[in-house]
Amino acid sequence: MSHRILITSALPYVSGAKHLGNLVGSLLPADVHARFHRQIGSEVLFVCATDEHGTPTELAAAQAGLAPRAFCDGEHARQAAIYRRFGLSFDHFGRSSAPSNHALTQHFYRRLDEAGLIAERSVPQIWSPTDNRYLPDRYVRGTCPHCGDPDARGDQCEACGTLLDPVELIAPRSALSGDTRLELRESRHLFLRQSALRERLNDWLDTRSGWPPFVVSLARSWLTADLKDRCITRDLSWGVPVPRPGFEGKVFYVWFDAPIAYIAATQDWAADQGRDWRDWWWGESAGTGRIVQFLGKDNVPFHTVSFPATLIGSGEPWRTADVIKGLHWLTHEGGKFSTSRGRGLSCEAALDALPADLWRWWLIANAPEGADADFRAERFVADVSKDLADVFGNLVQRVARFAATAFDGEVPTGAEPGPAERSLAAEAASQVAAIRAHHEAREFRRAAAETRALWARANAYVQAAAPWSELRHDRARAALVTRVALDLIAIGATVAWSIVPSLAASAISAVGGEVAGAPEWPGDVERRILDDRGGETRRVGLFAPITKVRVEDIGAA
Ligand code: MF3
Ligand code: ZN
Repeated sequence: MSHRILITSALPYVSGAKHLGNLVGSLLPADVHARFHRQIGSEVLFVCATDEHGTPTELAAAQAGLAPRAFCDGEHARQAAIYRRFGLSFDHFGRSSAPSNHALTQHFYRRLDEAGLIAERSVPQIWSPTDNRYLPDRYVRGTCPHCGDPDARGDQCEACGTLLDPVELIAPRSALSGDTRLELRESRHLFLRQSALRERLNDWLDTRSGWPPFVVSLARSWLTADLKDRCITRDLSWGVPVPRPGFEGKVFYVWFDAPIAYIAATQDWAADQGRDWRDWWWGESAGTGRIVQFLGKDNVPFHTVSFPATLIGSGEPWRTADVIKGLHWLTHEGGKFSTSRGRGLSCEAALDALPADLWRWWLIANAPEGADADFRAERFVADVSKDLADVFGNLVQRVARFAATAFDGEVPTGAEPGPAERSLAAEAASQVAAIRAHHEAREFRRAAAETRALWARANAYVQAAAPWSELRHDRARAALVTRVALDLIAIGATVAWSIVPSLAASAISAVGGEVAGAPEWPGDVERRILDDRGGETRRVGLFAPITKVRVEDIGAA
């Protein structure tokens, strides 16, 4: 049965270096899920984009001496290249600044307005006479009213984490000019009346299943009587213009247009492919297709409240997320990742130090699913050395080399399988089924743990059956064990492909298989291990050993 599944990863902000925490927080698990679904024959569409609007982008562009558009062009290309190196297999990696997203964002605004869900209100905003403009969000800096940090940003204090409104800052100053003669001026803004949608959102949540429990509780905690209407416009120029008289020179708030870019990205992909985007997003057309969204826990309110409010409030038959897979944080040596403060590895530094698959493996095996996880260089080194070099890599290399030398690379039909092979086949079959079930349930740590267990089982079999010592007195038995080991390696690599695609592909080709695209999920594992398929020969190749990693390799990063 082939299922249609749309997989999205939270859209990374276009500015700022991305670190391993960003990667494991949504991009990587989404990629693993997309790859797994391709392996089991689902019709997969995996989309993502850069999140380009908002004050952080305007400020970063100004610092780089570029217009926002030009700045975003460069940063988008840079990020796309990094994600390619990490093996992220997006079908489409778009941009929230794309024309399709402008059109769609304005469309949603009009529908919401027609539905009476937009309220216009006067809001006091900070105005700088020196800069001759309003200063929203992080255009203002000042002292945090909660912890006293003197350098808090207008949207949030980084020191204590509190979300702020710029008007709350003590001794505010302009982040642009340092201007302290700031005034409050009333400015007209639009609010999305989320409070009017509270019941419908709760009812919607009731119909969802398969979400991590912490995501459901976070969502419920937002959907209470306290649910606030959300200001969806800003006094900025970089963004989606607000098509309303009196709103010239204002744009939509970045968090209003960004999630809509999931749909816009789908439209752009569909236009390229000659497909109909409605098959993924629109009522009946989307049929039994599923939408699964991956995101970090700070993004939960936007995906469980604001974005569904936009979709449901429009009164149109938009499809909403079936599953929201939220993840916790990855910390770095016990602290918060912060590339700006040199804490933790940036994606580029990680890739320069070691092949992507080593990172992919460790991050997925330690994904912050139930709670935060901590990256420590020593643990990383110990784990990847053991799992990938000692267990998996060694097994593949040893067996491939033995097959090449003992049988000249062409393994002949062997003896009849015995009790060792029968119990191995039964166990491997149930392990492969468990790995599949964990992937289906988006339980990535478990999937990786069971994959590791399968490799260990294969290792134990080869160790005990020792084809090298059988070779002299029982060549047929040595051939059987070798053939079984080769099949087992192919299976163990195939089920690991979604996590470690390059490593898996070279292992599969080392044992005589071929990989073009997603290798099909192994079917009848038991038979495949026990059946000799009469006289079939297989050409065995070489498998480059996985080099041992040292802490120094990543120490600098
Ligand atoms: N850029 C946001 C972040 O990195 C995520 C945006 S997700 C979207 O936290 F749905 F809004 F696009
Ligand atoms: Zn503070």
